[in-house]
Amino acid sequence: MKKKELKIPLIKDGTVIDHITAGQAVKVLHILGIPEKTLDSIVSVVMNVKSKIGKKDIVKVENRELKPEEVNKIALIAPKATINIIRDYEVAKKYKVDLPEEIVGIVRCPNPNCISNTREPVESRFRVISKDPIRIKCYYCEREPDNIADNII
Ligand SMILES: Nc1ncnc2c1ncn2[C@@H]1O[C@H](COP(=O)(O)OP(=O)(O)OP(=O)(O)O)[C@@H](O)[C@H]1O
Ligand SMILES: [Mg+2]
Ligand SMILES: [Zn+2]
Repeated sequence: MKKKELKIPLIKDGTVIDHITAGQAVKVLHILGIPEKTLDSIVSVVMNVKSKIGKKDIVKVENRELKPEEVNKIALIAPKATINIIRDYEVAKKYKVDLPEEIVGIVRCPNPNCISNTREPVESRFRVISKDPIRIKCYYCEREPDNIADNII
């Protein structure tokens, strides 16, 4: 019997998040609220695909056009990600993620005594102080996490 290749079908309408840092796709899904916010969409995830610049992950979300405000947060862990809006099978729009100036509720402050860790209603809040390399500083206690990907809530 011949082995069949598994092919991911093209999507008609939706969003392709390409050039995700290899290994970060699951955290990207978590930050985007997938599957909770996309219960009616088919989502395909491909990890460790070979590309010109080394390995990468790809996420494809059907029937949902992710807006820059929703998707820019993933620049924290996938700074080279490209967003492709697909309409009628074609790439209708393409842009690179751009880190917002503030990151609220995604990264845990490494300081156990920080108000964002000790008082329940206080969400974590970081200011972006450098985009390349990415550096963020806690709005409350000024601590800088040294590994952002490991501190995703
Ligand atoms: N209809 C579609 N369904 C699913 N994935 C698609 C569809 N159209 C494009 N893609 C994917 O979206 C990404 C961007 O497509 P594009 O044709 O712009 O490729 P590209 O020229 O390699 O882009 P880039 O220069 O950003 O790497 C690719 O990963 C491609 O496989
Ligand atoms: Mg390409
Ligand atoms: Zn803090």
